[in-house]
Amino acid sequence: MTPHLLSVDQLDRDAIDELFAIAQRMEPIARRRKICRVLEGAVLGNLFFEASTRTRISFNVAFCRLGGSVCDTTGFTFSSMAKGESLTDTSRVLGGYCDALVMRHPDLGSVAEFASAVNVPVINGGDGPGEHPSQALLDLYTIEREFERIQRPLAGAHILMTGDLKYGRTVHSLIKLLSLHEPMHITLVAPTGLEMPTPLLDLVADRGHRLELRDSLDEVFEPIDVIYATRIQKERFTEEMIESFKGISDEFIVNRAFLDRRCTPGTIVMHPLPRDGRPGANDLSTDLNGDPRLAIFRQTDNGIPVRMAIFAKLMGIEADFDRDLRDVGWRVPEAIGVDDARF
Ligand code: NCD
Repeated sequence: MTPHLLSVDQLDRDAIDELFAIAQRMEPIARRRKICRVLEGAVLGNLFFEASTRTRISFNVAFCRLGGSVCDTTGFTFSSMAKGESLTDTSRVLGGYCDALVMRHPDLGSVAEFASAVNVPVINGGDGPGEHPSQALLDLYTIEREFERIQRPLAGAHILMTGDLKYGRTVHSLIKLLSLHEPMHITLVAPTGLEMPTPLLDLVADRGHRLELRDSLDEVFEPIDVIYATRIQKERFTEEMIESFKGISDEFIVNRAFLDRRCTPGTIVMHPLPRDGRPGANDLSTDLNGDPRLAIFRQTDNGIPVRMAIFAKLMGIEADFDRDLRDVGWRVPEAIGVDDARF
């Protein structure tokens, strides 16, 4: 790995397997069974110039559970960028204060520009409609863990991605990671104008996967192994698109009725979250809550070991972070959520 994690393009299958093996060793710490202090004294700068709950907090928690401390800033208003400071001046300044930096920013390519001025590790927490490498890694980690649980090989699996495939950066990064695997069947269902960018379609086809493009979920006939739903990224629409956008019709809603029609008991339903629960948003339905096929919270939980593994690799602690672990001293519930499936 280079000193930074900016795009999944930096990773090959071996690098991903190595990272996931580290993430598995992180599990006892991430699941609050063991305490680790390996990053004691290190400080993370967590800079989020776009809305975030889970990405910001989970990077923060991953660093803290390895023993480090975190400084963070959110929004432009309270940062010196509001005074016209360049990305590279900001990163050089913060590199002098912090041992690692995570940044989310609304502009494509901005995090790479930010990282170009420093040698401390920088992680892309999302650059506009570009990439979200840590999310795609935790998504793939979740898919691999779920397939292990249901004892099925990932090769040949049917993966459906739906929602905003044009501006959804998580699907851009995830489809690249999936394309590194043995051939799969990937179906994409997006509303008109929100289709997956052509270069990504070409990449998946060139790597030997079977690719299908459909206009509605009801045109998908073969049983689906993984559904990856995404939110419509209205905040990235041009003015023209906002005016002409009529909302998402029911042809795109992933709900219990659709699962019962087109899926199997082993189907896994994922979403990077947040799901938009506002009327008319027609995002992933809450009528699936409590259904063990809904893997969204197993997915968010997996964000911690995967982000810890990214820090471990970028900060050079992967060999022996688990040498001196201690037991936790407080009571941790067996299942975190009241609806959590017990497998
Ligand atoms: C996503 C993002 O910010 O790209 N959220 C996340 O980080 N889990 C998806 C979204 O905002 O829809």
